[in-house]
Amino acid sequence: MSIQNLLLDWYDKNARVLPWRSDPQPYHVLVSEFMLQQTQVDTVLPYYAQFLEAWPDVISLAQADEQAVLRLWEGLGYYRRAINLHRSARMIVEKFDGLVPGKMEDLLSLPGVGPYTSAAIASIAFGEAVAAVDGNIRRVYARLFAVEGALGEKETETRFSTLAREILSSDRPGDFNQALMDLGATVCTPRNPICEKCPLITKCLA
Ligand code: ADE
Repeated sequence: MSIQNLLLDWYDKNARVLPWRSDPQPYHVLVSEFMLQQTQVDTVLPYYAQFLEAWPDVISLAQADEQAVLRLWEGLGYYRRAINLHRSARMIVEKFDGLVPGKMEDLLSLPGVGPYTSAAIASIAFGEAVAAVDGNIRRVYARLFAVEGALGEKETETRFSTLAREILSSDRPGDFNQALMDLGATVCTPRNPICEKCPLITKCLA
């Protein structure tokens, strides 16, 4: 079986049940990806629920007071994210008719949205075939394909982008990206990876 199918089969059975997955409206995915930029899923969950209760859509967030957004964010840290998410909501209302844009270049124009977050939103919320490559996914690729070289070096990064593009599932890009995230978080962990539980064990060069 291909890497794509092995991974997607594993995801279908083992995906973490997460609110932005059960209802992947673009706004939900936008909020979740901002919160997940520096923070683990378990920590994000209660903040995500409160945030959506306070501001259930882009319009309400755009109209919110910045101090109120920061207050809700208290404890989550990296407060620049809250400011950028709030500004993004305002920009979405002003420039994109209140609809979270689906194109990479439009997403990248939002404050606080970089290559990873834009690819995550485009693939999860809009089904665009773009690979989201974060630290966890780099580690999975580095092991799977025995990528040598230091993380952060230009050559290594180019290699990761090429690999990511080649192996991305074009049928289910959002699920594929999230499957890699889950694999990196639960199986292919930094220390003591649980290789016997890995769907890619027969493909892995590490
Ligand atoms: N980390 C960043 N985005 C994520 C997502 N959509 N699911 C799980 N972990 C993530």
